Amino acid sequence: MSELVLVLDFGGQYKELIARAVRGLSVYSEIRNGNISVEEIKRLSPIGIILTGGPNSVYLPDSPKCDPEIFALGIPVLGICYGMQMMCHLLGGEVRRGECGEYGRVLVTPSEAEYKPFYALMSHTDIVAKLPTGFTTTATTENCIAACKNAEKKLYGVQFHPETELTDDGIEHIRAFLYDICGATGDYKLDDYLYGQINNIRAKVGEKDVLLALSGGVDSSVCAALLTKAVPGQLKCIFVDHGFMRKNEGDEIEQTFSNKNLHLIRVNAKDRFLKKIKGVTDPEAKRKLIGEEFIRVFEEEAAKLGEITFLAQGTIYPDIVESGGAHGATIKSHHNVGGLPESISFDELIEPLSGLFKDEVRVIGEKLGLSEKYINRQPFPGPGLAIRIMGEVTEDKLNVLRESDAILREELDGMGLNQYFTVLTNTYSVGVKGDYRTYDPVVAIRAVLTNDFMTCKCAELPYELLFKLSARITNEIPSVSRVVYDITSKPPATVEWE
Ligand code: XMP
Repeated sequence: MSELVLVLDFGGQYKELIARAVRGLSVYSEIRNGNISVEEIKRLSPIGIILTGGPNSVYLPDSPKCDPEIFALGIPVLGICYGMQMMCHLLGGEVRRGECGEYGRVLVTPSEAEYKPFYALMSHTDIVAKLPTGFTTTATTENCIAACKNAEKKLYGVQFHPETELTDDGIEHIRAFLYDICGATGDYKLDDYLYGQINNIRAKVGEKDVLLALSGGVDSSVCAALLTKAVPGQLKCIFVDHGFMRKNEGDEIEQTFSNKNLHLIRVNAKDRFLKKIKGVTDPEAKRKLIGEEFIRVFEEEAAKLGEITFLAQGTIYPDIVESGGAHGATIKSHHNVGGLPESISFDELIEPLSGLFKDEVRVIGEKLGLSEKYINRQPFPGPGLAIRIMGEVTEDKLNVLRESDAILREELDGMGLNQYFTVLTNTYSVGVKGDYRTYDPVVAIRAVLTNDFMTCKCAELPYELLFKLSARITNEIPSVSRVVYDITSKPPATVEWE
């Protein structure tokens, strides 16, 4: 077993970034609810504990708190933002609303002259006004205590967010906590995880077959590759082609995964899905109907295969954290093709990627020899192009969107952008083609830069390229009247339009 660092969740939006940063430093981390019992912590025996941020004020009676006994276990603790405020509050310090909040990159000045001032991401209204006995201030901003410690008890707090890229050398703060304070040895290796899973699957499955819903996305593709390696010839994959894939994508998935070690069943269900969402314009209703229909089709196909002992899923760690975490508000109901069908009976669920973050899944995919195209595939929403057509989805609109998207990909592939696609809007505009007046829909281009998809900014595409895209799309697809470029960041917008 690797050394463990527990990330205790108090509702902060960056909890996964913290846990991922710890793993990136070769120390295994797990996210647990902030109200975890002291007994459970003792059982897990972590080398360190990190308390996340959160949207609450610690002095409100209902705000989430950890058991104060955690601070007396002798296990090093790092409190981040709300985590630092909560630690100080529970140990007898004073937290109150600051004169003014701090949001964005703020200059932090360490108390010891040997360290230089640096910029860090701040996002808080409350401040620690008085430290608990035994604590000293280790850094300040103009408005707050930015960092504090009780070195004797190995308790540390930072008001800023070292886990985000917006803090200069933020990861170094986490590294120092792990290696200098917790005494980590850095024993977490993905190879161990991979071979551990392969052995577990072999032991569990024996000679039996395993069924997997394959979407062609990174998670289900890596899951297929891993199962093929663990139990070659025993994997059956159902690929439900809902007809909302990009140009040629269904055929490419079929080609890639048609091999003798994996039995692929492709179900062409385009008509069925189109019928299901005919006349539906509300984005959430579209997502829900497509998700439900996907499960029905999968169930029907699975039933044809007879009794199923093992059902595999490409669930990854953030899926588990998100479904268990009660704090975050649902912004969109993310339907992932491959959701668990309730009425299929099977004996056991196999989720070999459920301990991994997305970039770790990619590394595993690479180790398994999956092609770069699948490993670095852009995220593609489960409901596919259906949520990139604003309003009702029809076959004609799908064709227009597919062609414009293919042109965009031809032009932008290889530029290092994180996600790019076209959207068929439901706005019509007047144009002139030849000597004729036209009245056709507007296509929008979305191209974003992001690392975590929780925030993003618009890619600064050169005007020349934008002119070319506009010319190609309007010329090659006669029924598009004009092309616009979406320059909005997330927040306030989201990546997808629906
Ligand atoms: P939003 O639009 O919420 O998207 O800013 C963030 C990222 O998630 C992808 N996305 C989805 N992925 N099922 C998925 O698996 C979905 O229903 C879904 N909706 C959005 C989106 O493409 C972006 O990368």
